[in-house]
Amino acid sequence: MEIIGTIKDMHDLSRALMSQDKTIGFVPTMGALHDGHLSLVRRSKAENDATVVSIFVNPTQFGPNEDFLRYPREVEKDVDKLSAQGVDTIFIPVEREMYPEGFSASINIGKIGEILCGASRPGHFNGVAAVVAKLFNIVMPDRAYFGQKDFQQTVIINKLVKDLNFSVDIVVCPTIRESDGLAMSSRNSYLNSGERKAAVILFKALKLGEELIVSDGIVNAVLIKEEMRKLIHSEPLAAIDYVEIVTANLKEVEKIKLPVAICLAVKIGKTRLIDNLIIDPNNADICSL
Ligand code: PAJ
Repeated sequence: MEIIGTIKDMHDLSRALMSQDKTIGFVPTMGALHDGHLSLVRRSKAENDATVVSIFVNPTQFGPNEDFLRYPREVEKDVDKLSAQGVDTIFIPVEREMYPEGFSASINIGKIGEILCGASRPGHFNGVAAVVAKLFNIVMPDRAYFGQKDFQQTVIINKLVKDLNFSVDIVVCPTIRESDGLAMSSRNSYLNSGERKAAVILFKALKLGEELIVSDGIVNAVLIKEEMRKLIHSEPLAAIDYVEIVTANLKEVEKIKLPVAICLAVKIGKTRLIDNLIIDPNNADICSL
């Protein structure tokens, strides 16, 4: 396994792989790796000749009052986990390598970045789009792997690839959960034990929404969201940011017509968590645990 820190070395390696006709799978991450991240790595390993994982806590996707400074950084543990998976290359640039003095470019992904999570995190998705665009240009992958856990992010990355003509296939992988249903997230480490128990309310609310749609056949989205909100309010440590039901293009749905995605963001204490379920009769895999 090789650890690369510079863009030049990454370019050289990717060019060498391409000249040998080897396919490159790429998994961009911010580290503090858990089984969700590793599921993307395994998928990439299965589908490509070489797998590159990047670890970079990208400052431009954090707002001024967000958790950039306290975001968990555990590079040594991450390297061990990736080595155990048989990853070929880890790209770990320092901030100055990605954003040298004088760096000034930006991407405005448009309205799609201003709704749902973008409404309470202004500029977040422009920061994500820009760093992912840079990473695609640095790694030059054939395929890149993203988790459905960050559903809006997957829609935005697909739009980025389409709008700017990147030559990479985006593969979206199912959300990996703890045994009680909580979606794995690097930010779960912020939760104390009471908050950790309370956090299961996100998944419970999503399952309630799914049940109302699938078993009860309710088509009124307002009603479904109201029932989900009531359930979340029953948890004293939870404060709702949003509960929405949207199409694959993130358009708000009034009357349910499958497939839809139920998306939510909830603060548990001070920690903001997100989750979603895609309700799609043609893809049973995605909506089940
Ligand atoms: P990060 O939060 O580290 O996540 C890296 C990738 O792992 C993302 O594609 C995310 O959706 C996926 N992931 C996280 N939790 C998951 C889970 N429980 N199950 C399946 N996949 C999961 O997302 C980012 O980093 C950044 O925004 C990044 C794309 C790296 C750009 O900086």
